[in-house]
Amino acid sequence: MAIIETRGLSKVYTLGKKRQVVALNDVTLNIQEGEIFGILGPNGSGKTTSLKLLLGIIFPTAGEIAIMGENQFSIAAKKNIGFLPENPYYYDYLTGPEILKFYGKLFDIPSSTIADRTEELLNLVGLYNARNLALKHYSKGMLERIGLATSLINDPKILILDEPTTGLDPIGCKETRDLLIKLNKSGKTILLSSHFLSEVERVCTRIAIFHRGYLLTTGTLTGLLEEYQAENLEDLFVKAIEKFDTAEQK
Ligand SMILES: Nc1ncnc2c1ncn2[C@@H]1O[C@H](COP(=O)(O)OP(=O)(O)OP(=O)(O)O)[C@@H](O)[C@H]1O
Ligand SMILES: [Mg+2]
Repeated sequence: MAIIETRGLSKVYTLGKKRQVVALNDVTLNIQEGEIFGILGPNGSGKTTSLKLLLGIIFPTAGEIAIMGENQFSIAAKKNIGFLPENPYYYDYLTGPEILKFYGKLFDIPSSTIADRTEELLNLVGLYNARNLALKHYSKGMLERIGLATSLINDPKILILDEPTTGLDPIGCKETRDLLIKLNKSGKTILLSSHFLSEVERVCTRIAIFHRGYLLTTGTLTGLLEEYQAENLEDLFVKAIEKFDTAEQK
């Protein structure tokens, strides 16, 4: 079953009176339940824009979105999504349990459920022993992990992560990757954006390549490598972009 579907999705940002930026152009995509789906693309290719559209944070210029059959602005859609933004900001002087309580209250989750989930989530992300520490003393890796925990406070079916490993060292990246795989095995559908090819290669079951707001191609890594006669994901990425640019020049 497609858990996320977009049809002809476009987003044009208007800057001032005349300048317009086409950030996303006629993107039709579907993500199946149980996938770890990776949106890959260079800077400015429309990754964050597409995630923000799915979250209902910004309005599409054209096109439609269905999240578990509901539109992106519905309460049902929001209940089923957890989101970790690109550069999350947290309150320095709160501890892990306090920040989870804050987010839990935003979802109107009963206090006893928040308390149970807090313990469970802190254990899951390996921050239980740091539970009395204020976030200002956290390392970047720890902040990323508390971010993941906050995005799971509502026990969502779908987890959307914008560049989840940016700024992390190799150990932090591996920890995040292992966590995503664990979460996926426990039933979460994961949609992430990245420009780190190796990260995507290691975790994603299916990928989409974005370039200048266009969706160039989607498929499994092995399927796409074969289709583009590419040796690895880097080669595939370059070939898909070259093919698009050549076609556009004609
Ligand atoms: N609020 C905005 N107003 C105007 N233009 C915007 C806005 N947000 C994004 N853009 C433009 O839309 C295009 C796509 O941006 P987007 O942030 O979706 O890219 P991205 O793939 O997430 O890039 P990055 O890898 O740098 O995070 C870019 O040209 C960007 O400058
Ligand atoms: Mg982005």
